[in-house]
Amino acid sequence: MCGIVGYIGKKDCTKILLDSLSKLEYRGYDSAGIAVFENSEIRVEKTKGRIAQLEEKIHRNGWINGSCGIGHTRWATHGEPSDVNSHPHGNANISIVHNGIIENYSKIKAFLETKGYVFESQTDTETVAKLLDYYYNGDPIDAIRNVISDIEGSYALGILFKDFPNKIYAVRKDSPLIVGVGDDEAFIASDIPAFLKFTNKYYLLETNEIVVLDNGKAEIFDKHGFTIQKELMVADWDMEAAEKGGYEHFMLKEINEQPSAISSTISPRIADGMPNLNECGLTQEKLASYSNIFVVACGTAMHAGLVGKYVIEQIGRIPVTVDVASEFRYRNPIITNKDLVIVVSQSGETADTLEALRLSKKMGADTLAIVNVVGSSISREADMVIYTHAGLEISVASTKAYSVQIAVFYLLAFELAYAKGAISKEECMRLTKELESVPAMLEIVLKQDVICKYVASTLVNAENLLYIGRGLDYAMSMEGSLKLKEISYIHSESYAAGELKHGTISLVTDAMPVIAVATQRNLFDKTVSNAKEVKARGGKVIFVTHNYINVDDDVADYKIGLPTIDDLLMPMLTVVPLQLIAYYTSVLRGNDVDKPRNLAKSVTVE
Ligand code: AGP
Repeated sequence: MCGIVGYIGKKDCTKILLDSLSKLEYRGYDSAGIAVFENSEIRVEKTKGRIAQLEEKIHRNGWINGSCGIGHTRWATHGEPSDVNSHPHGNANISIVHNGIIENYSKIKAFLETKGYVFESQTDTETVAKLLDYYYNGDPIDAIRNVISDIEGSYALGILFKDFPNKIYAVRKDSPLIVGVGDDEAFIASDIPAFLKFTNKYYLLETNEIVVLDNGKAEIFDKHGFTIQKELMVADWDMEAAEKGGYEHFMLKEINEQPSAISSTISPRIADGMPNLNECGLTQEKLASYSNIFVVACGTAMHAGLVGKYVIEQIGRIPVTVDVASEFRYRNPIITNKDLVIVVSQSGETADTLEALRLSKKMGADTLAIVNVVGSSISREADMVIYTHAGLEISVASTKAYSVQIAVFYLLAFELAYAKGAISKEECMRLTKELESVPAMLEIVLKQDVICKYVASTLVNAENLLYIGRGLDYAMSMEGSLKLKEISYIHSESYAAGELKHGTISLVTDAMPVIAVATQRNLFDKTVSNAKEVKARGGKVIFVTHNYINVDDDVADYKIGLPTIDDLLMPMLTVVPLQLIAYYTSVLRGNDVDKPRNLAKSVTVE
């Protein structure tokens, strides 16, 4: 939702904060600001707009010369993007940056107003700043402990106290915050890319642990104020992962990283030609014992769960329910201790998914997290975790994370089906081998970008689009539609192809392109009929299917052909042209592909 950073060391703090914030712009970018100790005073510069505008403002008003400070890049939750609503918030004595939502801020604000405080912004964060001021009696940790006992909601806070120049205080609950530790310098950040250039060593903070950065070192206290020792983690990502590597956008880089991401994810989980997920505690006995499986996630992660549903039900014969986390939490789901709840999340910080996980645990289900970010909140709270190895995913539109998520679902489905005796060892090995062939196949598919770029050029002025498919192709059409919407800003919706004639086909005109996904050969003829219905009404059809299948003119205007693997695994290939079509359409429309409007990479608020 927002990005927060902090630096203390011997270098130019302002420069480091701006550089670190730029690495977190994918988390939120409608305003930005920094607070730096300059001659023992807290100097704040902040503005509506991107980091670039902040840098211009700092140059205009005079560089801030200091070696200790905090910074923030915002995705507005309370109060529109504006200078006054930008972070940091506070006064000459206290300055804070915040990621999260304070749910009881109105009550606290009303209390503080009775104490004479006057508010100038519309943010919940300003309430925290003034509450800190209210409790501050010369002991920062005491003030912080009082504040966190009063506020409710999610927060990662970076704090400066004027009385303690060249110290940074920080605390978190539900919003991510990590502590980077370098040579005589230390950092706080919402995510690793912020300081990866300087160090890959970091501490993970647990809920309401307080960290004090002082003299380039980090000291961590529990919520009672006692010092605690933490394990120093080492990120296996390098700066190259946080750079574009010669691609125009992170999204295109990450689309092209899918073959290696899939290999890194599945290879360690295949032994003697068979899937093996024991590392996470999911034994075959346990897998075979579940009565129901629930998959809960948001956005693209939920779409990965849809593929998981089709595959697990098709070969494992266990009922799988897929829910968006924001619905699951409030529909009073019927879950027992015989059920498995799988939560899927690239960031591992999505608020709704985290709360759905907590609800599932409370209801007695076994919980498994499929997560990309090591040490994220969801990975730490689930009973079992399978880490995907997609590496850093920076573009807001999720691509390689989706592919590795469905790759894990395939492994899970194969192992579960075999454990239940629903498929033979030979069949399990055949499917596993087919999965292992995907990275090489993807290299072929990635070369299809010319046709995808051309198709994008035919969509660039469209205002509405339909994606249709059946079975696994319907699941793919949902992901293709979301990709297009979120980065091209063209309205699109995915529709079960067989459902089209029950109303939605009334929308079809020559101005309504339809992308028909038809890789499931048992349903191919039916999808062809649906495409013909669209063509017969003047609609333009783009057909995604196997290379070897000829598609007549009365079925489609354009065909995107894919190499053939087992239909069950075709989603691993199908998603790439759908990603590329969305990418090129966005580029042709001049959008900021990696940082689309109104979006943030990780939605850590409800
Ligand atoms: C994907 O392209 C979107 N940016 C979004 O739907 C995302 O998948 C969703 O917010 C879930 O995020 P997570 O995987 O980090 O939980």
